[in-house]
Amino acid sequence: MRIGVIGAAGKIGQMRVATILAEPRAELAAVMDMSMEKARAHAHGAPAFDRLEAFLAVPMDAVVISTPAHVREPLCLAAFAAGLHVLSEKPLHHTVEGSRRIVAAAKAAGRHLGAGFNMRYYPAFSYVRDVMQSGQIGEIDHIRIYGGHEGLPKFAFDWEYKSEISGGGALWDVGIHMTDMARHLMGEITEVYGVASENVWKVRGSEDNAMAIFKSPEGLPAIYQASWIDWNGYKSAVEVYGSRGMVRGAYAPMENVLITMEKTGGAPRRTVNRHRGIQIAEKLRSWKVTALKSFQAEMGEFIDLMEGRQGLRIADGHAALRAVEVAAAVPESSRTGLPVRLDNIGAMRL
Ligand SMILES: NC(=O)c1ccc[n+]([C@@H]2O[C@H](COP(=O)([O-])OP(=O)(O)OC[C@H]3O[C@@H](n4cnc5c(N)ncnc54)[C@H](O)[C@@H]3O)[C@@H](O)[C@H]2O)c1
Repeated sequence: MRIGVIGAAGKIGQMRVATILAEPRAELAAVMDMSMEKARAHAHGAPAFDRLEAFLAVPMDAVVISTPAHVREPLCLAAFAAGLHVLSEKPLHHTVEGSRRIVAAAKAAGRHLGAGFNMRYYPAFSYVRDVMQSGQIGEIDHIRIYGGHEGLPKFAFDWEYKSEISGGGALWDVGIHMTDMARHLMGEITEVYGVASENVWKVRGSEDNAMAIFKSPEGLPAIYQASWIDWNGYKSAVEVYGSRGMVRGAYAPMENVLITMEKTGGAPRRTVNRHRGIQIAEKLRSWKVTALKSFQAEMGEFIDLMEGRQGLRIADGHAALRAVEVAAAVPESSRTGLPVRLDNIGAMRL
C-alpha cells in the first residue's frame, strides 16, 4: 500500500511516518506540511510537498491526516475525491457538523475512514475487552472510565487547548480516547447525561472537567470523567464490573487487575499484571515506545481494512463521529440539565 502523510512534520505526524516506514506492507508515498522546509525535513527520501494538489497528484492508496482538527475537513474531502482511503487523527473535526460531512464524503466515495484511537491497542485496554467478551466476569453490570492530566502545562502549543481549533477541552483531548474506549466496550453510546465546567483554567469553550453517564442501547451504563485538573499527572483507566468479578486496565503505568469468582460473592481470585517490560522500556526511553507500538498495530489494521478484512479492532468513521458527538453532548446536557439521545449508528459500512 502506498500511503502519504499530511502534517508529517508534527509530533504525531513524525510517528505516523515512522510506522509506515516500519510496516512491510506499506511504502511512504509522499509527505506534506505547511512549508517545503518542514516537509523535506521529515520526508525520509519520499517526495515532499507544501501544496495539496501536488501532493495528491502522487499515485497512492491512502493518506494519514495528522494536522490539527480545524483544517481536517478540506483535506479529507480532497483525499476522498481523489479516491484515497483516510486514517485521521483524533478528533476527526472540531465540530459535529464537520465530522458528519467527512463521514458522508467517505461513504459517497466508497472509501474507508479509519480513526486514530490508538489506545485500543494498548495491552492493558485490549485485555479488558478480551476479558469482558470471554464471560470470565459474568454478566456485565457497569463500566467506569477515566482520562485526565494536569491540563494546560501539558501542551506544547496553545491551539491544543483552544476550542476553535481543537473542539474543546478535556472531552476532546485525553477524554476522547476514553469516550471511544467506552463505546468500543459498550458497542454503542445512545444516551449521554453530564456536567461540564470551565471553573479552573477558564478557557472559554474548553471544559477542564466533565463527568457523565453514558448508556448503550441495551441500557448498559458507563460512568465517565475527563479532567484537565488531575494534579497527580496523566492517567487513563477503565474498570468493568460483572456479576462474577471485575477487570481493570490503566495507563500510565500500564497495569491490569482481574478479580474472578466461581459465583457472585464467592472467594475472589485476584491477578495483577504490571506489564514490567513496558514499564522498563518507557523508563529507559519514553512513553513514545508504547505509543509507537500502538500506531504500528493500528497501521497494520488500517491496511487490513483496506484489504477488506473483517473483525478488526481499528476505529472506523462512525467511532470517530460518535466520539465527537458525545464530546459535544456532555456540555449540551450540562447546559440543559437533560440527557442527550443519539441514534444507534453502529459500525460504518461502505
Ligand atoms: N492519537 C494520539 O494519541 C494523539 C496524541 C496527540 C495528538 N494527537 C492528534 O494529532 C493531531 C496532530 O497533533 P500534533 O501534536 O502532532 O500537532 P503538531 O502541531 O505537532 O503537528 C501538526 C502538523 O500539522 C501541520 N499542519 C497544520 N495545518 C496543515 C495543513 N493545512 N496542511 C498540512 N499540514 C498542516 C503543522 O505544520 C504541523 O507540522 C491532532 O489532531 C491531535 O489532536 C493524537
